[in-house]
Amino acid sequence: MATMKGGVGKTTSAHAVASVFAEHERVLLVDIDPQATLTKAIGVSHPHTLYDVLMGTARPQSAVALLSESLAIMPSQIEMAEAEIAISGRIGRERLLSRILAPLASEFDVAIIDTPPSLGLLTVNALVASRGVVVPTQPQAADLYGLREFLLTTIVQVQEFLNPILEVIGVLVTQYMKRVNHHREALVIMEQAELPLLDAVIPRTVKVAEALGVGESIVTYQPSHPASAAYVAVAEEINQWRRNLR
Ligand SMILES: Nc1ncnc2c1ncn2[C@@H]1O[C@H](COP(=O)(O)OP(=O)(O)O)[C@@H](O)[C@H]1O
Ligand SMILES: [Mg+2]
Repeated sequence: MATMKGGVGKTTSAHAVASVFAEHERVLLVDIDPQATLTKAIGVSHPHTLYDVLMGTARPQSAVALLSESLAIMPSQIEMAEAEIAISGRIGRERLLSRILAPLASEFDVAIIDTPPSLGLLTVNALVASRGVVVPTQPQAADLYGLREFLLTTIVQVQEFLNPILEVIGVLVTQYMKRVNHHREALVIMEQAELPLLDAVIPRTVKVAEALGVGESIVTYQPSHPASAAYVAVAEEINQWRRNLR
């Protein structure tokens, strides 16, 4: 889940999709955001985090915190912002996360990375370690420029220089209110702009924040809520994309 903007639903979506996948697969959530929103929301307290692994003071396996039988998280911490600076001079600095996750591949079926809202080295590491990227956005026509910029510049450059097998799974519209005129208009404008929109659209609901308040995703908190159904549909679209891989 990546874009350059904050507050668009990256963390919420990463958590929700991971919950859906975890019903049938072994899922690793990776929090690479120094704000550690996901780590804090879930309430993980684990002796090691991705920060330690990036700094070379812990092994990848020791920074994996089990949340359930099929869901685990590699947590973040605020010091991750320092790690971004610390790794900036290293050779292979864009591939550190990729190398960290490699030895865990046999333990998990899928990894979902929650990125920071900026295009720094941490986000680039996430894009280099990924096969596919979902780009969450709010239904705002004003965001179109930044969105296109991210898709056409950042992702294309990562594909060209660092990770040729990276694919855009789709743009995910979140926090949608169908009764709001400018939301409906924004959706039409995004379609006309030929953005690779996912079919599923996530409705805005206070239940999302409520779920986070108790450390859960909407999907486990209120499985029958329309927003949960929408995330199940997103997971199915991602699965369709996965089936076409290789
Ligand atoms: N579908 C939704 N309905 C209502 N609020 C939402 C929804 N998705 C996210 N939010 C809220 O919007 C804020 C930003 O979401 P978040 O997932 O943290 O975005 P990001 O990771 O892109 O910064 C949070 O307060 C979150 O609870
Ligand atoms: Mg976030």
